[in-house]
This record gives sequence, structure tokens and C-alpha cells, in this order.
Amino acid sequence: LENGLGRTPQLGWNDWNSFGCNVNETLVRQTADVMVSSGMAAAGYQYVNIDDCWSTRQRDSAGNLVADPVKFPSGIKALADYVHGKGLKLGIYSSAGTTTCAGYPASLGYEQRDANLWASWGIDYLKYDNCGDHQGRNGQQRYSAMRDALLATGRPIFYSLCNWGQESVWTWGAPVGNSWRTTGDIAGNWNSVMGILDAQAALTAYGKPGGWNDPDMLEVGNGLTDTESRAHFSLWALLNAPLIAGNDLRGMSATTRSILTNTDVIGVNQDWGGRQGYRLRDDGNTEVWVKPMANGARAVVLLNRNSGSTTISTTATQVGLGSGTSYSVKDLWSKATSTTTGTISASVPGHGAAMFLVSGGGTPPLEVTSALRGTGSNR
Ligand code: DGJ
Repeated sequence: LENGLGRTPQLGWNDWNSFGCNVNETLVRQTADVMVSSGMAAAGYQYVNIDDCWSTRQRDSAGNLVADPVKFPSGIKALADYVHGKGLKLGIYSSAGTTTCAGYPASLGYEQRDANLWASWGIDYLKYDNCGDHQGRNGQQRYSAMRDALLATGRPIFYSLCNWGQESVWTWGAPVGNSWRTTGDIAGNWNSVMGILDAQAALTAYGKPGGWNDPDMLEVGNGLTDTESRAHFSLWALLNAPLIAGNDLRGMSATTRSILTNTDVIGVNQDWGGRQGYRLRDDGNTEVWVKPMANGARAVVLLNRNSGSTTISTTATQVGLGSGTSYSVKDLWSKATSTTTGTISASVPGHGAAMFLVSGGGTPPLEVTSALRGTGSNR
């Protein structure tokens, strides 16, 4: 969506994966605090997003949504002011149906009323779900109606479509939203993460500045082992996925924090080399994923789906670099740098990934037009 937002994939946090319906203003405020104190904000995280269950069960007599006075006694506007005071942005949630998935009132038929209310509160981001009755209208119609309402407010509001990949949303999502969910919900286990990854392999062509494929929010530090979390984060970065943390930031371990704030990996996510990362090789339980970077380098993820460790190898020319005698390699997790005559290889732990940035071979910068190049300043 050409609303000036999402020129690179969005970074932030959302309460749903860890808290479900137990959202409240204290959680949101404390999360905003930790987003700054942990270094996440400095690493690029910006949006603090409220998911389902934030409102009362009924609209008020004027027809407006009302924040639950027990969960949000200060109101959402005061919360937005607080989050803005930290240099961050606040997101809200609704559904393109008559109710949200948890049965709260949603926005079908109330698009402009609700968009105006959110804008008046200072909301910066809308996640728009697909639950409730659709009143016979297809997804493109329902999601476009809210796009028009958000644009009409005049406030820049990042628009995240959440229709779970239905109706091949990637084929019509780009002029409608800034990102679109491609699958059902992620869960904090390895099989879920791998199943969602498999569903992304065919969608490489659709993500671009302004509109990104969304393989769902992160489960880093939320049920996965540290090794699995590193692999998940590496892959989501390479896929140009939104990086929306789903763990409880307030209690995260030092390792989880270091994964989420790995600026080399985030840098791969935020770079537009003209193409989302793609699966170069599928050798059964081991895979090679590659993303061309704007400067001509290649980001490479070696993925091991086995439970035990395995050596995985590829070459500089296989990942798309020109032929040469020496290439530079940076391991984006250990930070070690080395040179190679061409082989890129690692012993990768079970349920794990290695991630490298490889350059050389005289590979020129990619011909990315300035219109397509993410500015990096306007997530
Ligand atoms: C379904 C969405 O896919 C989830 O991410 C979450 O927003 C829930 N609905 C909330 O009910």
C-alpha cells in the first residue's frame, strides 16, 4: 500500500502469542519501557501492538468502540501518549467481520467510525483480522473498505492484513495493505515454524517495499529452544517478514534479547535487494535459503530440520555470486569473518540454522530502482 509506510518490513511486538486475551495497559506500558531499555528500540523495533480483547462487549450508544475500563482504565489515548513519549508507536486490532475472533465487536460496516476513533486516539498501526460474519463480501472488498477509511483519516496508520492467506491474498494485497498474513496462526513449537516456512516458498515474488508477505509473528523465546529461536529469526529475516516479537519482553533471557537485537540479521531483513529471500535448495531435511542484498552480497541461511547436527554446504556461485578466487564470509551469529575460495559450509545443530553474509566474485550492486529501494527510515 502506497501510504508511505512499510518501505521496509515492520518491527515491533504484539501481546497475542504470549498473553492471548490477557492484555492491559500495564503490560503495554511495561513492554514499551523494556523495548527501549533492552536495546530493541535502538535495533529498530518501533510498534507496540495490542491484539484481540481490548474493548468492551458492546459499542456505546453512539456506536463507538469502547476500551475495556478494567484493562485500560486510563484509556487508549493516554496509552498512545505514553508510548509516543518513549519514541515508539501504538497498534490496535479489529476484524473485517461483525466480531473479532474472541467475540468482541469488530469493524465491518463501521470502518470510518472506527478508523476515526483510532486516529483520534493517536493509533499508528492496525492489525485487521478475518473473524465474524462477512455479510457476503469477499476479502478484497472488506479489507479495501478499511484501507479507504484509514487513508481518509489523514493519519499515517500502518495497515496489517490478517486473513490467514485466504483468497490468495498475496495476489491482491499489495494495493490494499502494508503486509498480509500468508497462513493460519503460528505456535511456539518447531513443527509450526517449519510448516509456515514451507508455505512461504511459493510466495517469494509478492513481497515488495510497501507490502510484505507476513508468515506471522515471532515465537523467539516463546516455547522454542534458543537454537530453534535463532533459526526462526534467521529465516523470518531472510523472508523480509515483519519482525513482531511475541514473547514476554519483561522476562526474557539474555540470550533471547541477543537474538532479537542481532542487528546483522535485522539488517538483512531491512535491506531491499529487489527480491525476498527464497529457497535455493531443498535436500530433504537440509535446505539452503538465499537473499540477494542491495550491494550485491548474498545472505545465506543453512537450515537443518534434523534433530541431530549435520554439515550443510553450498558455494558462492550457487548462491548467485560471480566466479572469483576469494570471497568474504561473515557468520551473522558468531560474528566471525573469514575468506573462502567458494565453499560455504557449516556444521549446523539439529533444529538450527547458520546464517552468513557472503560477498565477492565481482558481483555488482543489484539494479534496484530508487522507487523500489526501501528508505529504511519509514517502517
Ligand atoms: C487470529 C489471528 O490470526 C491471531 O494472530 C490473533 O489475532 C487472534 N485471531 C486473536 O483472536
